Amino acid sequence: MTIMSDDQGWILQTAHTAYALAINEAGYLVQRYWGARLPHQDDYPPPPEADGWASFNGPGQLLPEEYPAYAGPKYVEPCLKVTFADGVRDTVLQFERAEVSEDTLELHFHDVHYPLHLTLHYRLHTTDDLIERSVSLTNAGATPITLERVLSAQWHPPQRGKYRLSHLAGRWLDEFRLHRDWLPHGVTRLESRRLTTSHHHNPWFALDDGRANEDDGEVWFGTLAWSGNWVLLAEETDFGATRVSLGINDWDFAWLLEPGETFTTPSAYAGWTDGGFGAASRTLHDYVRAHLPHGDQLHAILYNSWEATLFDVSEAGQAQLAEVAASLGVELFVVDDGWFKSRLWDNAGLGDWTPDPVKFPHGLTPLIEGVKALGMEFGIWIEPEMVNPDSDLYRAHPDWVINFPTRARTTARSQLILNLARTDVQDYLITQFDALLRDHDIRFVKWDMNRNISEPGWPAAPREPRELWVRYVQGVYRVWGTLRARHPHVIWQSCSGGGGRADLAILRHADQIWVSDNTEATARLRIQEGFSQCFPAQVMEAWVTDAGRGQVPLEFRFHVSMSGVLGLGGNLLQWSDDERATAARWIAYYKQIRAIVQLGDQYRLLSAHDGQFSAMQYMDKERNHGVVFAYRVWLPDPTILPPIRLRGLIPDAHYEIQGIDGERSGLAWMRDGLRLPLANLESAVHTIRRLD
Ligand code: GLA
Repeated sequence: MTIMSDDQGWILQTAHTAYALAINEAGYLVQRYWGARLPHQDDYPPPPEADGWASFNGPGQLLPEEYPAYAGPKYVEPCLKVTFADGVRDTVLQFERAEVSEDTLELHFHDVHYPLHLTLHYRLHTTDDLIERSVSLTNAGATPITLERVLSAQWHPPQRGKYRLSHLAGRWLDEFRLHRDWLPHGVTRLESRRLTTSHHHNPWFALDDGRANEDDGEVWFGTLAWSGNWVLLAEETDFGATRVSLGINDWDFAWLLEPGETFTTPSAYAGWTDGGFGAASRTLHDYVRAHLPHGDQLHAILYNSWEATLFDVSEAGQAQLAEVAASLGVELFVVDDGWFKSRLWDNAGLGDWTPDPVKFPHGLTPLIEGVKALGMEFGIWIEPEMVNPDSDLYRAHPDWVINFPTRARTTARSQLILNLARTDVQDYLITQFDALLRDHDIRFVKWDMNRNISEPGWPAAPREPRELWVRYVQGVYRVWGTLRARHPHVIWQSCSGGGGRADLAILRHADQIWVSDNTEATARLRIQEGFSQCFPAQVMEAWVTDAGRGQVPLEFRFHVSMSGVLGLGGNLLQWSDDERATAARWIAYYKQIRAIVQLGDQYRLLSAHDGQFSAMQYMDKERNHGVVFAYRVWLPDPTILPPIRLRGLIPDAHYEIQGIDGERSGLAWMRDGLRLPLANLESAVHTIRRLD
């Protein structure tokens, strides 16, 4: 049994962890335990009670409530806040019943006075050691209820003292920067107000008591599966308790729950490990891979023309690039922006998704056939959610964009955002892209989104206009999900000016993510490592481009991209014979190691966040084959580089490292390590092979 009921409540057990909760004597649903799985059922503590009372501090301040609603004298961050039709803004939840199955628990509550029903959903991912939580609210009455905050979960690490919060922050061209800070007293708010997940913060978190490192120590970690506005509230209360609440952002949010309707939140996921930050990441990697649309597939090595041509694409120019790409061993040729009607620059054409008749006088098919004749598959770039004011679509439907009628429509990159909360807009996009995919042999689609929101209005909204924030995202999922279902062979990439839309929900639709528009290899090291905190290398598309050409050796640039899903994005027509030979060699090598990189366990050996000498390792699940990458960016000479201590080997098995003298035990490689005398801007890649 993975979920057990005892007279104290419920114990949720995964392979290595346990999470216990109960209704305490005062009637609050509280968390009892979260950490290592314990041997006996009666090992788990009883539910905490709020001992003591002061006029300034009631139970709401003292208890680790699973899902606190705003009610009574409660001043900590609640998960739920609603306004009833009579203006009452206080929700008193009463436990009704539990439904338990092998791996799900549903706890049903209702308000003591109003016909509002709430269900907390728990799902155990037993082998992945993760707990998934979501919430649904049903209005069983006759008058509407306004939802103002409905978070997905509140998570409570044990109350043992202070915690550090690890999270990812950044901006366009500099995404996924790891921050690891002690939580201050009070509330730390991380969020997106940008309509999408955003480059600026990512809903991933990890908590530790300051003693965890990559390999050891207790870490409580999690994330939210949502691609719209989200909020993470990390609160250290006045009583020294820490909790993290996660869900749809309540900023500017409102949802009118009409009689008979149900609102369901996205899922929040969390786990515990005593294997440090590395194990936390590998847990998420395994889970993400297991739930990808094509998780068991290795990704093709693609060529993308964006950085080579910008908008200057044409049948002849693309065909020339394709020929070189194929000769290097590339497997998938992707035409980026610029292929559709009137798209000479970024100020026109978005919305009109037919091939430009000047650039492609016979449509896309001749190019596609040419690419296929070269032995490659064909892929294409689209940006469905956007429209340029200079487009036929906008001229026909100026009312289809997000706007406030009395305000200027702020353009960014000369574009406006189509209101995907509207079903007519969704239907239009489905029809357009369904036809594109039906009429052409397209195997890969890069779905981009190149601006964030402004003037978040929904004129003529049939409902509460602030529902836009959620209905837009649901609209994106509907369009994407419908296209994916109709064209199941297509591999999708989620791009939003780089890594602006990377989350577990978009990875139900997309197979991979374009991590950053910054393709300069030395900068990319840190970006890719930050990304790896939550996401596996299998979803990390990484191109070798011309950024840094002349300064950073091509081999170094390849090694950086080979630690994810290798792609090429430089102007191959300008590459010398030497450069092409180098490219062909590393492409061939990558084909040998990509199963280990994309499907294996990832170890951050030496951090690019901390230093100029970094290393990353991947091992297959059987611990037979691995690959280690090392990069030295810039260190003054003389210098002593630290040994690279491998991980994940079987201690008493023997391993050889290609190109390095000596067979040694796994323990020796892990404890003593590997010494690589790299010069500045030099890198290395070595395969690891078990001998016995
Ligand atoms: C975004 C993407 C780029 C490229 C351009 C095209 O910036 O991140 O890779 O596709 O759009 O306009």
